[in-house]
Amino acid sequence: MPPPRDRAELMKFANSRLGKTVFELEDVTIHAGPKVLLEHLTWNLGPGDRVGLVGVNGAGKTSLMRAMQTAWASDGDLQPAGGRVVVGKTVKLAYLSQEVAELPPTLRVLESVEQIRGRVDLGKGREMSASQLCETFGFTKEKQWTPVGDLSGGERRRLQLLRLLMDEPNVLFMDEPTNDLDIETLSQLEDLLDGWPGSLVIVSHDRFFIERTTDVVYALLGDQALRMLPKGIDEYLERRQVIAERAAAAAPAATFAKKTGDTRAAKKELQRIERQIVRLDKDEAKLHEQLAEHASDFGKVAELDAKLRALKEEREELELSWLELAEDV
Ligand SMILES: Nc1ncnc2c1ncn2[C@@H]1O[C@H](COP(=O)(O)OP(=O)(O)OP(=O)(O)O)[C@@H](O)[C@H]1O
Ligand SMILES: [Mg+2]
Repeated sequence: MPPPRDRAELMKFANSRLGKTVFELEDVTIHAGPKVLLEHLTWNLGPGDRVGLVGVNGAGKTSLMRAMQTAWASDGDLQPAGGRVVVGKTVKLAYLSQEVAELPPTLRVLESVEQIRGRVDLGKGREMSASQLCETFGFTKEKQWTPVGDLSGGERRRLQLLRLLMDEPNVLFMDEPTNDLDIETLSQLEDLLDGWPGSLVIVSHDRFFIERTTDVVYALLGDQALRMLPKGIDEYLERRQVIAERAAAAAPAATFAKKTGDTRAAKKELQRIERQIVRLDKDEAKLHEQLAEHASDFGKVAELDAKLRALKEEREELELSWLELAEDV
């Protein structure tokens, strides 16, 4: 087990100043080949914001972070397919990518850290050597001589994290950081992030980790939008459930009717959709009443508003299916 680490010390070297502007995305479009992952995305990541980013595989979480990193690394020269990413002048980004970056396998742990810098300034004239820092991260003197190629997946990830923090970032992007980490390192990473003063974006499928380390959850639900979820992961799971049920319920009947040219089945399906739309209209009216009633309760309004948006989406989809079917009848 790695020795206990001095968290207060660790945080000092990751504490370079961060101005008011961190990342501002204006009407951004992100493509992957011909596929549009995100469209009309306007989003602001402010100083000290702690964001959990969730979404199904392939929704575009990594692509979003990459686009932001690219804008930062190129000083704003390289921009996404549409819109603009404005990066604050003081931003120093560290990006822990989904795949552990390959280091030359014969390089020793200590050497790989010294490559970044030999000593870290802790302020007030105090310093820490790369070797001392390695120890704080659970690499004993002996382990520091291990070739990087012989490290376990978890050790490699821990080393990558240390190398990132050595660069004194004030914004941290982490893509699935909990992969390969043993429980001990994981809980130390959580502690470390507790004291992290900068901005933070974390992609993870680990619910506990997201809830422990971030303050707000955003989701990519596969509709080219990034949505803030006021109720967090619970809301994400609810929405996923609704999408799955809707797809299961709507698709077979409509597709069947369309394929077979069965007018009677199509008509029945049309009526079913119409009934559902009527039901949604009623729900919507109720939500509006509740909104008026709780207008002064900020949390409640956010919750109702999220419901309203989900409902509108559902309605839009139903209307689309209705239109599609109606063409054939
Ligand atoms: N260079 C590329 N060329 C073409 N398609 C790509 C490229 N990079 C990613 N994609 C596709 O873009 C989509 C989004 O990928 P991305 O890696 O951003 O998703 P993700 O939300 O991070 O998924 P995961 O949870 O699996 O990591 C996927 O369908 C992926 O196959
Ligand atoms: Mg990804």
